[in-house]
Amino acid sequence: MLDQKVVELLNQQINKEFYSAYLYLDFSNYYYEEGLEGFGSWYKIQAQEERDHAMLFIQYLQNNGVRPVLEAIEKPAVALTSAKAVLEEGLKHEQYVTGLIHTIYDAAYSVKDFRTMQFLDWFVKEQGEEENNADNLVKRFALFGDDPKSLYMLDSELAARVYSAPSLVL
Ligand code: FEO
Repeated sequence: MLDQKVVELLNQQINKEFYSAYLYLDFSNYYYEEGLEGFGSWYKIQAQEERDHAMLFIQYLQNNGVRPVLEAIEKPAVALTSAKAVLEEGLKHEQYVTGLIHTIYDAAYSVKDFRTMQFLDWFVKEQGEEENNADNLVKRFALFGDDPKSLYMLDSELAARVYSAPSLVL
């Protein structure tokens, strides 16, 4: 039996991950409209990954005999003011999600819920990677974003990203 507080936080995380997917789809739409199709594609794939994360939380609850409760997904609430600002918002959002994962981990730790801690280990690592990716994008845009040729090359590089299913299997 999972602790009630842990269940509540895991369930909330389903919604947060779907919101992340929604937010990144909004980013993607912004970039497509700006003509930066590589950035658009990169964030569309990121949205797919976020959906995968939500599905993993759903599966984990089900594996533990808990019925997930789906709540309304908020409208993306981030003002997309420039190609650079969107990347900065992406980094901020990943830092926020890391905090959420750590909060669940902390709740699991406090009730010695080793199973949930082990499940969350994958997400702790994943968040490290995602923050790093987002930070790299911010830095590279700062270096190359003002030069059209360099921006074209960066956009082409991001277009090459391919979707891969999560390495975590439940
Ligand atoms: Fe599912 Fe990027 O957090």
